[in-house]
Amino acid sequence: MFSICPERSCDVAAIDALLDEVFGPGRFARTAYHLREGVTPISELSFVAIAEGKLRGSIRFSPVSVGGREVLFLGPLVVKQEDRGKGVGVDLMKRGLKAAKATGAASVLLVGDAPYYARVGFKPLGRGRIIPSGPIDPDRLLALEFQPGGLDDLRGPFTSLLAASPV
Ligand SMILES: CC(C)(COP(=O)(O)OP(=O)(O)OC[C@H]1O[C@@H](n2cnc3c(N)ncnc32)[C@H](O)[C@@H]1OP(=O)(O)O)[C@@H](O)C(=O)NCCC(=O)NCCS
Repeated sequence: MFSICPERSCDVAAIDALLDEVFGPGRFARTAYHLREGVTPISELSFVAIAEGKLRGSIRFSPVSVGGREVLFLGPLVVKQEDRGKGVGVDLMKRGLKAAKATGAASVLLVGDAPYYARVGFKPLGRGRIIPSGPIDPDRLLALEFQPGGLDDLRGPFTSLLAASPV
C-alpha cells in the first residue's frame, strides 16, 4: 500500500538520491533541467509516494516562462524501479494536478512520453507555438488545460523563469 503525501523537508535527500539513481548525471544536461535550474519547486505542489516508511516516488512542479507569462511545468516525476507498474506514477500525477488546478492555474506543461501522460489528459502542444530555450523533441512537449481555452495564449519563448526575469 502506498500513500501519496505532501513532500517534507526530510524527504529531500531521498528524492535527490532517487533522481540520481534513475536519471544519472545526464539529467543535469537536459533542457528540462535547465528550465527549472535555480528555481525552487512549488512546495504545495510537491508530493511523495511512501510505503513502509520509505520514499518510493516523487513529483514536483516548477514555474517556467512562456511568452513572458508564468506557467506550471510538471517534473521531475520519478518512481523507484521496483515499485513501477503499480499505479504510483499516475497517483502522484493525479494528486499533483488536483493541487495545481486548485491554485487557479490555466494549464500545465511537461516534457515526456505522450502515451504515458495521455493517461491523465496531456496532449502534444503542437509544433511551432512555443520556442524552447534548448533542444526538446517537439512531440514530447505536452500540455494539459484545466479550463477551456487554458492553452490559447501559450505562445513564444519557453525559458526558465530566471532567464525571463528583468535584471
Ligand atoms: C514513468 C514512471 C514515472 C511511471 O511510473 P509508474 O509508477 O510505473 O507508472 P504507473 O504504474 O502509474 O503506470 C504504469 C503504466 O504506464 C506505462 N508506462 C510507463 N512508462 C511509460 C512510458 N514512458 N511510455 C508509455 N507508457 C509508459 C507502463 O507500461 C504501465 O502500463 P500498464 O498500466 O498498461 O501496465 C516511471 O517508470 C519512472 O520513474 N521512470 C523513470 C523516470 C521517468 O522517465 N520519468 C518521467 C520523465 S518523462
